[in-house]
Amino acid sequence: MRPVAELTQYQLRIENVLSNSIPDANIEPCLLHKAMRYSVLGGGKRIRPLLVYAAGECFQVDKKTLDAPAVAIECLHAYSLVHDDLPSMDDDDLRRGKATTHKAFDEATAILAGDALQTLAFELLSSPLHNISLKNQLKLINILSKTAGSLGMVGGQVIDLSSTGKILSEQQLENMHLHKTGALIRASVMMGANCSEQLTEQQQIALEQYAFCIGLAFQVQDDILDIESDTATLGKQQGADIAANKATYPAILGMQAAKAKVLNLYQSSYHALSCFGEEANLLREIADFIVKRNR
Ligand code: IPE
Ligand code: IPE
Ligand code: MG
Ligand code: MG
Ligand code: MG
Repeated sequence: MRPVAELTQYQLRIENVLSNSIPDANIEPCLLHKAMRYSVLGGGKRIRPLLVYAAGECFQVDKKTLDAPAVAIECLHAYSLVHDDLPSMDDDDLRRGKATTHKAFDEATAILAGDALQTLAFELLSSPLHNISLKNQLKLINILSKTAGSLGMVGGQVIDLSSTGKILSEQQLENMHLHKTGALIRASVMMGANCSEQLTEQQQIALEQYAFCIGLAFQVQDDILDIESDTATLGKQQGADIAANKATYPAILGMQAAKAKVLNLYQSSYHALSCFGEEANLLREIADFIVKRNR
């Protein structure tokens, strides 16, 4: 088992590169930069950037090469959270243990901070990068733009909003989760892997399968924790899905079936990695973390 300190090391690295990548709050427009930094820094599990480093580790990619995609995906994710919390979306007041961006600032600033975080992600990804071919760099930009857009995360958010109060089939639920959350998880894994020049088709398929499983497991677990955890642990309002009448796995299939689904996906994520050896241990640990968090 990898010493915990090593995961913490990665998280410290992420915090540091994130802080260096977002303009200082004393650079004009100061309020916007302050809101961007507020939304990104000092909170969050950093699952997506960890996945970028973990997928890169499978191919011994230099950490320095992985910094830009790691920061880009976290900025993209932070933007999605800022907008997800807006009154016109989930209308939440608490995120990562502090006031949501539109509460700490105002709604217009939150919308614009989200917009600017999204473009920052692509600016970072398209700037000269350390030790990566232009062909692969273009692939990373393509992966992130596709998975973040109308056929990925944003599309999933639309399904989420239009499903509120409805009874979905298991297939419809899965489709919603795979888009709103699975897409960026998949982008994280595939961006990390595509920093390598050695990725084979078989490995690509295995990693896609791993990402499918943990992406879905992650959102099902998020739905479960909304019911079973508490506000202090979550850093966001417990029970928010029930209050908003959201279509979730526990609401539609029941808690037992939701938990069985997470376990099943967890086992399948390990199975998907069977063509990798120890070099994929960080990916395995992230799967462990997803199913065991807050327990
Ligand atoms: C929250 O994501 C939104 C979902 C997709 C479930 P995370 O649970 O990764 O949130 P942070 O980044 O750790 O705050
Ligand atoms: C959020 O899903 C998905 C995205 C932000 C794209 P949720 O609405 O379930 O996330 P939380 O529970 O507010 O973190
Ligand atoms: Mg939402
Ligand atoms: Mg929400
Ligand atoms: Mg949720």
